[in-house]
Amino acid sequence: MCHAEGLHLIFAELQTMIPAQTVDLVMQTALIEEVVGDYVELKKSGSSFRGLSPFTNEKTPSFYVLPEKGIFKCFSSGKGGSVVTFLMELEKLSFPEAIKQLAQRYGIEIEEQEITPEQHQARTERESLLALNAWAQKWLTDQMLETDEGKAIALSYFESRGFRKPVLDKFKIGYCPDSWDSMSQAALDSGYEKDRLLTLGLVKETDGKPWDFFKGRVMFPIRDVTGRTIAFGGRTLRSDKKIAKYFNSPESPLYHKGKVLFGLHLAKPAITKEDRVLLVEGYTDVMAMHQAGIENVVSSSGTALTVDQIKLIRRYTKNVTVLFDGDDAGIRASLRGTDLLLAEGLNVQVVLFPDGDDPDSFSKKVPTETLVRHISEEAKDFVAFKLELLAREAGDDPVLKSEMIHSIIESIAAIPDGIQQGVYLKLAAEELSMSEELLQLELSKVQRKRLLDQQKAEKRDAFRQRKGFDVRSSSPPSSNLQVPADWSDEKGFDANQAETIGQDPTLAHRDLLEADLIRLLLLYGSESIHIEAPDSNEDDTKNEPKESTVVSFAEFAAHHFEGLDIAFKNASCQSIWAVFEAALDSGKLPELDTFLKHEDPKLQAFVADAVVQKDIVSERWGEVHQIYPAREKDQLKKALMDALHHLKLNQNRLESSEVQLKLAALSEAINNGEETAIAGLRDMLERRKALDVQKTKIASYFGVAILP
Ligand code: CTP
Ligand code: MN
Repeated sequence: MCHAEGLHLIFAELQTMIPAQTVDLVMQTALIEEVVGDYVELKKSGSSFRGLSPFTNEKTPSFYVLPEKGIFKCFSSGKGGSVVTFLMELEKLSFPEAIKQLAQRYGIEIEEQEITPEQHQARTERESLLALNAWAQKWLTDQMLETDEGKAIALSYFESRGFRKPVLDKFKIGYCPDSWDSMSQAALDSGYEKDRLLTLGLVKETDGKPWDFFKGRVMFPIRDVTGRTIAFGGRTLRSDKKIAKYFNSPESPLYHKGKVLFGLHLAKPAITKEDRVLLVEGYTDVMAMHQAGIENVVSSSGTALTVDQIKLIRRYTKNVTVLFDGDDAGIRASLRGTDLLLAEGLNVQVVLFPDGDDPDSFSKKVPTETLVRHISEEAKDFVAFKLELLAREAGDDPVLKSEMIHSIIESIAAIPDGIQQGVYLKLAAEELSMSEELLQLELSKVQRKRLLDQQKAEKRDAFRQRKGFDVRSSSPPSSNLQVPADWSDEKGFDANQAETIGQDPTLAHRDLLEADLIRLLLLYGSESIHIEAPDSNEDDTKNEPKESTVVSFAEFAAHHFEGLDIAFKNASCQSIWAVFEAALDSGKLPELDTFLKHEDPKLQAFVADAVVQKDIVSERWGEVHQIYPAREKDQLKKALMDALHHLKLNQNRLESSEVQLKLAALSEAINNGEETAIAGLRDMLERRKALDVQKTKIASYFGVAILP
């Protein structure tokens, strides 16, 4: 039952933000085929729609939408669920964010609950600041495109650098006129408050007189993941070395430099599709890549990457290619950030451009094909790259050399894959002319320390997980960008499952069996089952029809499953089962909707799987065989008993192998003269016998012999 409680916790938490009835309303109003249709070209196929998966690069459509059920199912990525899940997966939104987006689209007002007056004020302040930035962006763009000064100075500047109109539009580029206060005046005239202009750093004040901070600069709006302008970068058009090339907006309630990646808003779909992000240095590099048709590009705005930025990347992909300018200073600066990427478990590759070229200049010298080929062919594994570079720099200097050894070992230790580590260690040993053993020793030290740190962190997580349902969903949202729960992390929902599956086929099989039972429940839970009452008065009922009771299949299944005394191991199954149990306790049957409202995409994918199997797979099967869907429904009792017996057998196997291990340990103890182990051995042999008997019974159910 503890999972049922956990589930309520999630719903409760959600309700403090968006009222449950609003969630219901949004989900009832939103048309999944319409929302999905924005991203996927859907073709009608029977009662469903079909199209190319937006999550992968598939060539034959295996992405389905079932409007009547309100679900989608993507066979190539395994994702599935409601319209909300779809947005969560594609736009990497949190559940509330997705609900809000849908509400906006369908004109449903969301009244958020339990907001303190301070929160309310902070929110309206944020919104006012956003409105001001939106105004500023538009004004600046107008200055560039509509005024003589803007055309003559800014537009022609971009033209001379080979940036064409579409890309300037896409990035909403602008120009701040070279006068002291034209922007401030325009803003004040339009009714914006001076304090907010100051807060956003658009305007500075000297002796009470406002002046335009970005005067005479071309303006690059910096946008958040949803595309709102939160800050600006302004580039001077003078070549005077004494003037800073870029001015950037100061930190503000909207803008935290370390948490933003320039271009991410525009790159999201391409990053997901390519499952890779290209990291470049500057604003102009991002724009140039887009102009060349490469869209999975972001920039950290010239500084070393922060952990927050890396977390942002991880929402979309684990694969990062860093594109370095040719010059050494740039490389050094970026190296630091790159180590962080490794430490966060990302796969990092590096591409260098020929002397003096950056992605911007290179992209304008060569055709797109050459650029694309350069990026894919010149991509070097990061550790190998770092090794080469540092070895060259350190030369024979012993101090530099020991520093670099340490730095390399740190990088290697960050790599999760053991075999890969071995390869690098060998490489490092050769490159540094050192013994592999010595490096291995260093590596072990670093690893041991990391392991300890990790164990501590895991204990903390486990503790929190016991208290709430999921660690991540209970952590408070961060201030500026609302980073949603990181569902992509395999360790998120069911850590145990992810770890055990790889190791033990019996356990992996268990997953399938549990899923099958849950599938029966989801599909047929509300079907009626007739059970014949046992004969009570033998004598006078002989000729009358036997009494029979009608129960729901869910009840029937619950009764039998509980009799087995087996617990679900799969976390999604556990949660679904918990909902069933809770509903049955209160005399109801949970509808499909209940599950589609669940915040966890994995759970939804699971539910979608079950439904789609019935509607799409069996529709096709039905066409061919004319029997399949009917058969399972007609023989629900048999289907259930089959599923339960399979589970029972699986449990038996798991327990048997456990007993076997214990027996081995006990025999060894006895061989070592531990008399006390004998009693234990006897118990264990008893258990093995009981398990064998049980196995025989299961075998007779299936009418076959079961091999060990
Ligand atoms: N940058 C900055 N402040 C500076 C110089 C650079 O914030 N004074 C940041 C900007 O985000 C810039 C990035 O570092 O985009 C890379 O710097 P640089 O290569 O000098 O600029 P580019 O964007 O490449 O500009 P350009 O192509 O016009 O030289
Ligand atoms: Mn540059």
